[in-house]
Amino acid sequence: MNSQHSDTFEPRITAFVCNWCTYTGADLAGTSRLHMASNVRIIRLPCTGRIDPLFIVKAFERGADGVIVSGCHPADCHYTSGNYHARRRFAVFHDIMQFLGVDPRRMTFSWVSASEGAKWKDVVNETVANIRELGPYEAYRALAPDAVEPWPEAVDGLTPAGDQEPAAKEVAS
Ligand code: FES
Repeated sequence: MNSQHSDTFEPRITAFVCNWCTYTGADLAGTSRLHMASNVRIIRLPCTGRIDPLFIVKAFERGADGVIVSGCHPADCHYTSGNYHARRRFAVFHDIMQFLGVDPRRMTFSWVSASEGAKWKDVVNETVANIRELGPYEAYRALAPDAVEPWPEAVDGLTPAGDQEPAAKEVAS
C-alpha cells in the first residue's frame, strides 16, 4: 500500500488490555526501556472478559487505524475464565466485524503475561509495522464519516519510543 503514506503516516493504535497481565507486561516493557513504537494508546480494563466488542468499533469510529486486544494467557486469568469468554466472544465477533466492513488485518489479539515485556514490545512493533503497511483506515472512516472524532491532540505530538510513559485509561468493571 500507500507508498505515499509510508514516510509520513503514523498509525494510531488503540490497545485494550487487562490490568493483571498485559498492562503489567507493558509497564515492564517501559521500565525495561525496551525500544517500542509510541503509536499505541492503552486502555486498561480489569479483564479481557470486560472488553465489549463495541469498544473496538468505537475505537475505529474515533480514528484508530488498528486495535490490539491482549490479556492473560489461557488458564492465567485473574478472574478464572474471563479470557476464555473473551476468546469465544471475539471468535464470533470476528465475522460480525467483517460484515460491518472492518478489515480483520487491523485487529491483533494476543496473550501477554506480566513477565512478558519483550513479547509486548514485539506485539506493538509488529502491529505498528503491519498497520503502517496497510495505511490509514480511510475505508472505515468513509463508512461512518459522521462518527469520526478528532484523535486526542497528544497523539499528534508523538515522542520517540522510550521517552514517554504509555497513556492509560481505566474502565470500571
Ligand atoms: Fe487478565 Fe482476565 S484478568 S484476562
